Amino acid sequence: MDTVNVGMIGGGLMGREMASAFARWCALQDMPVQPVLVAVADTNEDVLEWFQKIPSVTQQVTDYHLLLRNPDIDVCYVAVPHTFHEQIYLDVINAGKDLLAEKPFGVNQGAAQRIVEATKKSDSFVRCSSEFPFMPGAHAVYQACRDVAPLGRVLEVNAGFHHASDLDPSKPANWKRLSSMCGDIGVLGDLGMHVVHLPLRLRWRPQTVYAQLQKGYPRRPGSGGEAEVICDTWDNAALHTWAMVGDHPAAMRLEMKRLAPGATNTWYIEVLGTDGGFRYSTREPKTLWTFERGDHQEWKRTELGFSTPFKAVTGGIFEVGFPDIIQQMWAAYLLERGGLLGDHFGCVTPEEALMSHQLFSAALESEQTSRVIQLRYA
Ligand SMILES: NC(=O)c1ccc[n+]([C@@H]2O[C@H](COP(=O)([O-])OP(=O)(O)OC[C@H]3O[C@@H](n4cnc5c(N)ncnc54)[C@H](O)[C@@H]3O)[C@@H](O)[C@H]2O)c1
Repeated sequence: MDTVNVGMIGGGLMGREMASAFARWCALQDMPVQPVLVAVADTNEDVLEWFQKIPSVTQQVTDYHLLLRNPDIDVCYVAVPHTFHEQIYLDVINAGKDLLAEKPFGVNQGAAQRIVEATKKSDSFVRCSSEFPFMPGAHAVYQACRDVAPLGRVLEVNAGFHHASDLDPSKPANWKRLSSMCGDIGVLGDLGMHVVHLPLRLRWRPQTVYAQLQKGYPRRPGSGGEAEVICDTWDNAALHTWAMVGDHPAAMRLEMKRLAPGATNTWYIEVLGTDGGFRYSTREPKTLWTFERGDHQEWKRTELGFSTPFKAVTGGIFEVGFPDIIQQMWAAYLLERGGLLGDHFGCVTPEEALMSHQLFSAALESEQTSRVIQLRYA
């Protein structure tokens, strides 16, 4: 099996998640390539300490430039606050490393555009993180919707990602609640890529958008012990769009919410056609609902089990979870990097990431002007 040496920049919540996915790589079957975490850079020394338990990590630094000079590193994974994306992604690309970038791929559209341009001028293989399409139910919807003709006329697409944690006003604020760190797009940047990845891959590109954006609590206690931190980001977004699905315009509603009562990490997609449709939500992670219009109108329930896109040792009747889809996403990244992805679903491309930013910029404009905004993709 080929090994790929990974250097990680930002070892926080997502950095640790990726490290654990690599550590149990043996869970995947017939995988010709294996990632090995060899280096971690984080400005916080306490964060670095956690990685001492991973024997393959031979370089731990607070200055990521030192990691970029390490000739043994093939791929960089970068998971830092959004305001740092552009500089670090450009530095990774200019250092000649491949990159799995975290979403939203720059703090705004301008940053995403510059990252795309640098990628085009380089030989670096660059993709952006988004793992939910690797859930078996999401993947089944994708496979079925590559040809929507059997669904009749697709009337609606509803996709979203809902969290509830911000409902608690005593939850301390971190950088994700500050526009200065996560950008003016707020929750659109935080959760938006997860919602648009499948529609954009299916070429269901919003042509117009009308946005309703809401803010949450304006003040919270600080995570560093501060009595009060001003929170100025958008917390909830409902984007009402029109997109061509098959031969017809469909109403596509995209929701990203950090104030969704009862939702922990609920990702969903629903496609409703006159003859058929699909409904999948991580709230019922094994269950795919399929609509069929025959003599009767039926919603059929299918229990999918552990039918991930890339085969694993886990028994077929078991459940898939977040750590599994993170690992599946890495498998897709590494296979595509090696030219071995074939017809499998791949990670977000730089061009798709830029399109998502075009949509989010238009959503901000819609909010500011209370108007429907037309989208034109470059
Ligand atoms: N794919 C997903 O499901 C998912 C989930 C959560 C977050 N994310 C994304 O991951 C990224 C990081 O989010 P997180 O939740 O892990 O944040 P986090 O705050 O837990 O971790 C960020 C880490 O970056 C470090 N850091 C900051 N500046 C740095 C620099 N210049 N050099 C090196 N390290 C630096 C911080 O010390 C911190 O440890 C964001 O882009 C976020 O949107 C993705």
